[in-house]
Amino acid sequence: MYVSMKDMLLHAHHNNYAVMAINCVNMEQAKAIIQSADEEKSAVIINISPRQMKAHGHGEIMAPMIKNMAEKVPVPVAFNLDHGASFEDITDAMKFGFSSVMIDSSSFEFEENVRRTQQIASLAHGMGLSCEAELGHVGQAAADDNSNVDLYTNVKQAKEFVERTKCDCLAIAIGTAHGAYPKGMVPKLDFDRLRELKTELNMPLVLHGGSGAGEENIKKAVACGINKINVCTDLFRHATNATIEAVKENPMIDYMDLCIEAQNAMKDFIKSYMRVIGSSGQYSFKKDNGPELD
Ligand code: 13P
Repeated sequence: MYVSMKDMLLHAHHNNYAVMAINCVNMEQAKAIIQSADEEKSAVIINISPRQMKAHGHGEIMAPMIKNMAEKVPVPVAFNLDHGASFEDITDAMKFGFSSVMIDSSSFEFEENVRRTQQIASLAHGMGLSCEAELGHVGQAAADDNSNVDLYTNVKQAKEFVERTKCDCLAIAIGTAHGAYPKGMVPKLDFDRLRELKTELNMPLVLHGGSGAGEENIKKAVACGINKINVCTDLFRHATNATIEAVKENPMIDYMDLCIEAQNAMKDFIKSYMRVIGSSGQYSFKKDNGPELD
């Protein structure tokens, strides 16, 4: 099922679990993600950023391909523009057939973030798409942004932001960052702030920088109200490691077999992450009827 993020995230919000949002730049990754969701009876979100589209799968090609694959499985699959920044990137994604867009104006001051998000949320809703926004700023692990409390989401502002923009879900900054943390380092998350945000906003909340955040942190974040977790670095790492191992074992390995090795490693990782965040088994199906929520 090809759907927007709206209903799947509301289901996660009402049933206290989170859905994975996985960055994907080609067909093999899309296959690994959709097959994992299907086998786990889980919803899933496929993310791609404007930067990833420039170098890899362009949205114009990715959207119809993902829609086609998603329509062959009974579980809900959304295709979301990750970190949409310019108006043009976002309206292009809408034209290409994405089912959801993120407007990331988190580097602008509050009023400008509200203005930009309002505009995109209203356009998205008019087309039946969902809209994710960000308040506070989730930066880069390499710059230690995760420990910069000044970047964390302000609870009072968040309430006003959501009321004025009508975004469907909100990415919040509580101590994670994008990319790999220094070796052996696990970030410290501000769970009190997360609990407060959940109580005040009572809506689906998003955690960016899901890689390397530590299983205990992830489980606790879900228990405290996170409903969408973005994962990129760890998935790509699993694909790279599996590729290296396969070539080491057999330097003459066929390229197609190499792709399958990477695909299987990504599936193992995705399926175990889905179990950790509670999305596995949330969707069951009657034989010849449509989907049935548990
Ligand atoms: P990681 O690469 O740290 O998993 O972050 C992914 C992300 O948040 C994409 O928006």
